[in-house]
Amino acid sequence: MSNQRPDGFGMPNDNQLPVTGGMPNEDAFGIGENAEDDAASFVEAERAHAASVFRPDAETILEVRDLRMYFPVKSAGIVRRTIGHVQAVDGVSFQLPAGGSLGLVGESGCGKSTTGRLITRLYEPTGGSIVFDGKDITKTSARGLKPLRREIQMIFQDPYTSLNPRHTVGSIVGAPLAIHHVVPKNKILPRVQELLEIVGLNPEHYNRYPHEFSGGQRQRIGIARALTLQPKVLVADEPVSALDVSIQAQVINLLQDVQNEFGISFLFVAHDLAVVRHFCPEVAVMYLGKIVEIADRETLYNRPNHPYTQALLSAVPDIKQASVGGRRERIRLQGDVPSPINPPSGCRFRTRCPLAQEICARVEPPLLQVGKRHKVACHFAGELGHHPDRPVTASLLGVDDSGTPNPGATPSAEVGNEPGFSDTWFDLERKTMASA
Ligand SMILES: Nc1ncnc2c1ncn2[C@@H]1O[C@H](COP(=O)(O)OP(=O)(O)OP(=O)(O)O)[C@@H](O)[C@H]1O
Ligand code: SF4
Ligand SMILES: [Mg+2]
Repeated sequence: MSNQRPDGFGMPNDNQLPVTGGMPNEDAFGIGENAEDDAASFVEAERAHAASVFRPDAETILEVRDLRMYFPVKSAGIVRRTIGHVQAVDGVSFQLPAGGSLGLVGESGCGKSTTGRLITRLYEPTGGSIVFDGKDITKTSARGLKPLRREIQMIFQDPYTSLNPRHTVGSIVGAPLAIHHVVPKNKILPRVQELLEIVGLNPEHYNRYPHEFSGGQRQRIGIARALTLQPKVLVADEPVSALDVSIQAQVINLLQDVQNEFGISFLFVAHDLAVVRHFCPEVAVMYLGKIVEIADRETLYNRPNHPYTQALLSAVPDIKQASVGGRRERIRLQGDVPSPINPPSGCRFRTRCPLAQEICARVEPPLLQVGKRHKVACHFAGELGHHPDRPVTASLLGVDDSGTPNPGATPSAEVGNEPGFSDTWFDLERKTMASA
């Protein structure tokens, strides 16, 4: 298949390109006049699909334990010495169920993409472990990575820069098939056309170039490319954030169809809690390289316990979500996110947290399991308007209310940074261990 378009044929208007597979032409939808309209059209378009559900009996396909990625910071000059580290990901643990999806949400720079790239082994982790399908892939050699690339694929944020503008759609989608010798050469084109049809594009457009497609259509090409090798895990790094709101819901619905049809597990990265709500039965919230709260959808959206999650949810322009704790006002966080080169001591969120006290600067709050499928990292964890006056973690950590170690006290084993959930947890109300 040639990489060059054979003729200088006039390019059709992106907006007139037909799409197949029952998808309406994305560009026929307008953008809402304001955020509320956008949110409404987003929710309406999503309702065409039932929300993904959590399957408690699913096996774990991916387990990440205490994952760390520190990028070196070099001095200027001829001899470039390492003068510090960007602690982009610092002690992240979670499990991804087979055929399920986990949302990873947080502000810009909190380490979401780095986590995704570590899982796809585009980076070698500084520490921690990644176990995929029962195999430890943390230190897999370059040679071992080739088969791994078939199993774990990534969809990138920007459909404008992630597709090579000089290659036709056919060669972009077909390249992995050729590299991995998955099908004979004469079967590549039919397979490419099949994939284009699956993602709702006209299979006859395989010889067109990326610039001949709209943003949503380009993202469909990126999805087709990611599906080519039938991966078990897909890391979707903000796959819709560059798209118009109404198109976002359609692309998310497509990803959901793909998941249902092929049983692929998703790590879905987004900076907005609204985007992952429908797709992900479980969501983890990250702040400055760490997970601060992780829970099932119902708990995270209706009863978040971390002040940062509560602030993020209050910014969602959707009445149901914005009414967390019975109030609709937006919680505006003061100040900027601190530098990950020199993060705050204790709790990394403390420089912006309205609840911060002395203990928050002294002791890092552990990611404590506080419900059946709920963990939170906050000394004063509680529902909005019901945060406790005294740190709930003090006795577990063997410290007093200001964070000073109690002589002779031994920290509890319940506060380890384990991936997944245990059958027992710390009941915040009764301050004792509980179980279902
Ligand atoms: N290759 C790199 N070298 C040095 N620092 C990096 C590198 N990649 C990322 N970082 C830094 O690591 C931190 C986390 O970056 P990352 O891209 O993972 O954040 P993110 O949550 O995906 O943000 P965004 O929402 O903007 O995409 C940031 O401070 C970023 O500047
Ligand atoms: S530990 Fe302290 S600073 Fe951190 S989120 Fe909780 S109250 Fe805020
Ligand atoms: Mg990113």
